[in-house]
Amino acid sequence: MRSLFERLRRSVRKRIAIWRDEPMPLRTPDREFLEQRIFPFLNVHPAAGDKLLFIGVAAYTRHYYRQLRYDVRTIDFNRRAKKYGHSGRHVVGSATELTRFYGREFAVIVANGLIGYGLDDRAGFGRLLQMCHACLYEGGVLIIGYNDNAAHLDFVLRDVEEYGWFEEFVPAINTVTSATIKVNPTNDHTFVFLKSQPARRSQAPLR
Ligand SMILES: C[S@@+](CC[C@H](N)C(=O)[O-])C[C@H]1O[C@@H](n2cnc3c(N)ncnc32)[C@H](O)[C@@H]1O
Repeated sequence: MRSLFERLRRSVRKRIAIWRDEPMPLRTPDREFLEQRIFPFLNVHPAAGDKLLFIGVAAYTRHYYRQLRYDVRTIDFNRRAKKYGHSGRHVVGSATELTRFYGREFAVIVANGLIGYGLDDRAGFGRLLQMCHACLYEGGVLIIGYNDNAAHLDFVLRDVEEYGWFEEFVPAINTVTSATIKVNPTNDHTFVFLKSQPARRSQAPLR
């Protein structure tokens, strides 16, 4: 167990880094994939003023917002995480209630590290998909990152009805050949790439 002194030292270092607005990147394969492969892919063709919603924030995501060539908005339901959100463009609220805060205004939504970290069941995931569908332009991109193992989820993403409101696509990222890709075998971190499809008549309106 870490000593009290060590924890205190880390906490002070973290506060100083935040105060100085220094990046605090995590050095794991999934983070490297997100920052060095997914972000450049997203940055290829944004139109002027395109908005990107990044759901869930942490000390190690603060430097993401300036890496992305979008008008980046952030949301997290944890009030204490507000300091890690994009300053002046952050909302304290749930991903399962996006339409309380946003209209159909995003070209891209990144929902990484939510399942098993506050969005824990199939119904919640279905609601997240409904909300993302309502807030993305038609053809907009939804990237879901999650730990594909029993410790984090007890359902299969593709089995959730609202998953069918999106179309899987293979991103133009070198060496990536499928819409779903496990990038870290240690924690099973997996990314899936989806595009929003037009709403079908049978689709129930949102409540
Ligand atoms: C493991 S961190 C992931 C942070 C970041 N998205 C990333 O790429 O690592 C989980 C964060 O997501 C937030 N979160 C989890 N479920 C959420 C939900 N339904 N709505 C908004 N934020 C949520 C938590 O409060 C926490 O700050």
